[in-house]
Amino acid sequence: MSAAEQNPLLEGLRLRRRPDPCILVIFGASGDLTSKKLMPALYALAVRDLLPEKFGVVGAARTQETNDDFRARMKEAVQQHARDPFDEETWSKLATGMRYVTLDFADDKGEDELKDVLTSLDEEQGTSGNRVYYFAVPPSAIGTLVDEIAQRRNAEGWIRLVIEKPFGHDLASAKALTAEIKQHFAEDEVFRIDHYLGKETVQNMLALRFANGIFEPIWNRQFIDHVQITVAESIGIENRAGYYEQAGAIRDIFQNHLLQLVAITAMEPPIDFSADSVRNEKVKVLKAIHTPGPKHLVRGQYGPGFVEGEQVRGYREEEGVAPGSMTETFVAAKLYVDNWRWADTPFYVRMGKRLARRETTIAIQFKRAPHPPFEDGAAEGLRPNVLLIHVQPNEGVSLAIGAKVPGQGMTIRTVHMDFLYGGTFREGLPDAYERLILDAMLGDQTLFTRSDEIEEQWALVDAIIGLWQRDRPSFPNYAAGTWGPAASDELVHRDGRSWRRH
Ligand code: BG6
Repeated sequence: MSAAEQNPLLEGLRLRRRPDPCILVIFGASGDLTSKKLMPALYALAVRDLLPEKFGVVGAARTQETNDDFRARMKEAVQQHARDPFDEETWSKLATGMRYVTLDFADDKGEDELKDVLTSLDEEQGTSGNRVYYFAVPPSAIGTLVDEIAQRRNAEGWIRLVIEKPFGHDLASAKALTAEIKQHFAEDEVFRIDHYLGKETVQNMLALRFANGIFEPIWNRQFIDHVQITVAESIGIENRAGYYEQAGAIRDIFQNHLLQLVAITAMEPPIDFSADSVRNEKVKVLKAIHTPGPKHLVRGQYGPGFVEGEQVRGYREEEGVAPGSMTETFVAAKLYVDNWRWADTPFYVRMGKRLARRETTIAIQFKRAPHPPFEDGAAEGLRPNVLLIHVQPNEGVSLAIGAKVPGQGMTIRTVHMDFLYGGTFREGLPDAYERLILDAMLGDQTLFTRSDEIEEQWALVDAIIGLWQRDRPSFPNYAAGTWGPAASDELVHRDGRSWRRH
């Protein structure tokens, strides 16, 4: 009996088809992403019996490691980071098909060894030449690797390239990378990851909008006053100064996760749920986003402060960060989606590191009731209706409505109708990477970013960065543990609105 058959909690997960036999090759296997996310995700899929019956994993990186070292390191990673209790039998089954190859991405020496390892693993595991190549490496390493893979391509079996963000560092480099890949591979073989699309709560936004008849008629400028999207993190840059100094919040979060949340919130109903239908609608939103003027953009950088009761240093004092760094760790913007549905409806967005707490929310704020017929003062405690999508943590959806306070007379107050995942569904939420790795194996591109989407995202970011060249803000301008610079509040206050209360 399979794990899913033994465990009724896993009911429903069996509905999806099982992926073809294949080998997952991870480039960048010594990095944090592999141990914290990819391997725990594979283990979670193994526990739920969702991996292909015939399966192998090959780690490839510069670090010298034997197969056994790699397996031992991955086992520890799973024990530390997986969401399920460790089960030796499930692990051994997964570990049997695990290999490691030392590979310097700059030359092609390790490539032949990789090819040999893959061929023998095909024979041992019956994986039929099918490959998922996962690039957890900087964009500069991808072109050469893709060339090498294409040169050694088997006559049989499919190939899928899963590419982690960042996909390029601006529009020109993203286009160049796509062109390089397209010399050998078709767009339907390329899976650009934005892990936010793998989050249950982000997909639930699609369910909420398109599986319920009541929202669609009011999901527009006539009923919605504005939208607020917050991607707040309490963590700092965690030993990633080398990357973050180059990226900043605009490339790290705004270019990808944030714009995808805007696109999912604002898109038109797709005609079906095929990858192209969904992505066609998202790309229309991205095209319709107007470049904000300088007054509608705020950047910030954290100084020292207290986060969740702990004293933390400022960004410029982080290891590896230049003492006079001008990299932004916070961005807020007022965006407009210029189409019939959204014209004149602001999308206020903000994202940052070392904010007061970790919280990703999408708040749809509706217009006030046109004429509340109550006595003066009765509705003083009443705020406009807000549909709040808690992407994380405390995943769920909540609707703020006005209700009568019990007792004599008529006093109205805001109350919340809540749906909490934790209280409704018994099975814990899967990590985004579980969904995305499985979808890549199944060849389903719906939750991956297409080249034209990435290009629209970069075009907007390039325009914003261009505006920023003109002045030098005085950094740091917010204390760690707060909600960002004062200018972020002013951005919203100027319009007579305020950020949602925390
Ligand atoms: C990554 C960014 O893409 O997303 C990180 O590079 C950030 O800087 C992370 O911390 C946030 O992801 P999550 O799933 O924790 O919201």
